[in-house]
Amino acid sequence: MSAFLGPIHTWLFGKITLQNEIIEEIIELATKQQTDRDWAGSLNQQFGVFPVGDLESIIDTTNIHGWLQKHVIQVEHKLATLITQIQKEQLLSLEAIQSVFYEQGKKQSKQNNPSSLADLWKLIQDTMLDGMPCDHALEVMEQTENRILWKRRVCVHGDYWKQAGGDINLYYTLRDSFLQGLIASLPYELKREEDATYEIRQLDSIDSVELMMEEHQNILRMLQVVRNACYQLLQGADVVYEDFYEMIDFIKFYADDHHHGKEEKILFDEMVKHLGKMGSNLITHGMLVEHEWGRLFMSDLKEALQQLKDGREEAKLDIIASAIGYVKHLTRHIEKEDQLIYQFAKNHLQPEILKQVNLDTFQFEKEATTAGVQKKYQQLLENLERKYVC
Ligand SMILES: [Fe+2]
Ligand SMILES: [Fe+2]
Repeated sequence: MSAFLGPIHTWLFGKITLQNEIIEEIIELATKQQTDRDWAGSLNQQFGVFPVGDLESIIDTTNIHGWLQKHVIQVEHKLATLITQIQKEQLLSLEAIQSVFYEQGKKQSKQNNPSSLADLWKLIQDTMLDGMPCDHALEVMEQTENRILWKRRVCVHGDYWKQAGGDINLYYTLRDSFLQGLIASLPYELKREEDATYEIRQLDSIDSVELMMEEHQNILRMLQVVRNACYQLLQGADVVYEDFYEMIDFIKFYADDHHHGKEEKILFDEMVKHLGKMGSNLITHGMLVEHEWGRLFMSDLKEALQQLKDGREEAKLDIIASAIGYVKHLTRHIEKEDQLIYQFAKNHLQPEILKQVNLDTFQFEKEATTAGVQKKYQQLLENLERKYVC
């Protein structure tokens, strides 16, 4: 290390360089949309070229603070100007720009692998540019092993966005995407408490088997809805197509993709790998076959609904047969899993494998929560229960 440079200078230049990388990634995306536009040239002309090389060889050692500050200002202007222009010309969607920030956050998390909330907070400070250290832009209000609360004491970015004619709120939305990327594979959740106050807290660890047994209860509630709807048909009621399609939607995306998806990709996969012939037989020739069988009932139900729509009155019989066939089949399947399969897994999988199952389940749930899966199907279930279950 140079006699002039300290760790704080390298640390700050790392943050400036990361923001420059984000700018370059956005330029690359924008250039794909408009190949003859020289975004980099135009930004360089306005704000100067970003220096390349070892910090020691590029920095002005007679004015280290001033040189670093000049490049903080440079990348702040470039980011604000670039994004504001792209948004005004509608060249890229907000989601596309957000995903650059999100992926960069994920990359930083993967490279640094923070193993505690303290590590994560350090990573946030090591990667997010908030002016010069003397600006003290962020202030920690509370920090424990499981929770960190901080606030933005002063906004050091607003002027750049104002000068670019842009919206500072957009910048903070993009920073949120970066933070979400940082914690994407970690057991933490981020909340913006108020406009300038943030909280990251550790989520309680998930017990995969317990969670899937709770999901069984939701699925059984839907099976009751299906049974009651079929009983109404038997008593002469008309088929309410939109309700049946909602039941099928729940069964396809919640019971099958969300619940069976977790079983097949996580728990059952580990059982096949680690529980010998018995585990392999129970899963491959038992549970997986039964999942397929359930899908057949659903495809028969959809076909029967279409036939009735096309005027074949007798198809009502096939609607009831396939729907009730599914109800009985899945009820038995759930009983088997609750009483035998899950218990066999819990009793025989090694603790480190069960821990991995829980971690993978946590990740699966987190992605589904982001996509709104659990909330959507909980509401759909409650709506149908109001109609069909007294
Ligand atoms: Fe299953
Ligand atoms: Fe299940």
